[in-house]
Amino acid sequence: MATTPRARSDVPYVCTACGTTSLRWVGRCGNCGEWNTLGPASVRVHRPGRAPAVDPTPAVELRDVSTEGARPLPTGVSELDRVMGGGVVGGSVTLLFGPPGIGKSTLLFQVLSSVAAGGVDVMLASAEESLTQVSGRAARMGPVPRHLLALEGPDVEAIEAAVGRHRPALVVVDSLQSVSDPDLAQPAGSLAQVRACVERLTRLAKSSGVPLLLVGHVTKDGDLAGPRAVEHLVDTVLSFDGDRHHALRVLTSVKHRFGPTGEVGIFEMRDDGLRAVPDPGPLMLGDRMAGVPGSVVVPVLQGRRPLLVEVQALLGPGTGGAGVASRPHTLGIDAARANLLVAVLACRTAVDVPVPAEFFVAAVGGITVSEPAADLAVALAMASVVGQRPVPADLVVFGELGLAGEVRSVPGADRRLAEAHRAGFTRALVPASALGDATATAAAAPAGLVVHGVRTLAEALELAGTEGGPQIRPGTMPGWSTVRAAANR
Ligand code: TYD
Ligand code: MG
Repeated sequence: MATTPRARSDVPYVCTACGTTSLRWVGRCGNCGEWNTLGPASVRVHRPGRAPAVDPTPAVELRDVSTEGARPLPTGVSELDRVMGGGVVGGSVTLLFGPPGIGKSTLLFQVLSSVAAGGVDVMLASAEESLTQVSGRAARMGPVPRHLLALEGPDVEAIEAAVGRHRPALVVVDSLQSVSDPDLAQPAGSLAQVRACVERLTRLAKSSGVPLLLVGHVTKDGDLAGPRAVEHLVDTVLSFDGDRHHALRVLTSVKHRFGPTGEVGIFEMRDDGLRAVPDPGPLMLGDRMAGVPGSVVVPVLQGRRPLLVEVQALLGPGTGGAGVASRPHTLGIDAARANLLVAVLACRTAVDVPVPAEFFVAAVGGITVSEPAADLAVALAMASVVGQRPVPADLVVFGELGLAGEVRSVPGADRRLAEAHRAGFTRALVPASALGDATATAAAAPAGLVVHGVRTLAEALELAGTEGGPQIRPGTMPGWSTVRAAANR
């Protein structure tokens, strides 16, 4: 079979049949008359006496290829199955990464228990923890089912041998930083080891048909400490994240060869393990205080899934000199974006942003909101706290803000509104440009959600009542005295 022709005329081509070179690619060799035998000289070298290369794996009609092997097997852990498009595919390799202590071992142990409860053998290869530690964790989560095999130790060859012997339906390797290939001199956790182990484990999965779930730790700044370099070797990459001090955990598919990415699973870490959270509303907004200035709810999209997040703002007396810009301190909100929104608020609206002053802006619940769709909520929360006027408790807002103070459209307006409506919110401020979408949703949903399209931040402020209505005296605002005391210290 001929090599794909290259368009460059300066590359000499060579005929694989007779060895004649040519300065440009032609379909038929001018010397021997064979068709499609010319390839770049650097790739195809003529060896006298050797027959033209024949491709041992011919191309096939794609529509004839069976999709049978790619059918996922449900694990029974509903939120994981949702993220993986129904479950785990036979012979596939999945990498689950997240910071240490977030609950990766807990999640995969629950997956193993759930599959084992169905009466098939599964195996945990514990390279990191002793089996005593593993049993300790298991005991917190209830009785360990039969069919759950466990192998202790870092040796990747032992894992291969055990898979060959027991033929489990599912294998978890915990963790990639701890397994090692005895043929390599480098220590476990080094890039060379991690890469070699993933390559061996991938071959094992493909040859045995056993699906593998691999755990990888990330460092604080999100680097997969080696395993990031192996993402291309695996079929699926899942991220498990959250704030260790909060119960909420978010499972996201970053790469998935067997289905769409962007699906999100939500869990709550409890004393007896992770619990799937099909409705995160009560967990996210359960402790919300109504009528407090600076609190605004935004439906954000985690993947394709809407999640209601409370954005809170607080204003402290500035500690810098006169003329120092009000730089916000943020938690779970992008600081550069929040800073930009202070400028938009100060320059494009009548809100009297004090200079100097310090804004504190946070997304509540241990979640990180990086979507521009939260801009409107952040700006409204800051305006609300400047004017000491609360935003109505039954209002949700979303929209990206431009530097001109314009409210720009964001994707998924219908999903965001549906979620807000489901959670009992009755009013929404949305980008006016999304209103076609929005009215359709509001009409389709049960009555009770009033949707306002806004063109500018100023319009949104007026509708949210942050530019009028009853004013709360600063001294009565919860947290104010603490901030003031800290600033005066
Ligand atoms: P773990 O799964 O070991 O995290 P990772 O494998 O990502 O490092 O979970 C660690 C934390 O989870 C630990 O601090 C204790 C907590 N945890 C619970 O709160 N409840 C539980 O039932 C379990 C098993 C763990
Ligand atoms: Mg662990």
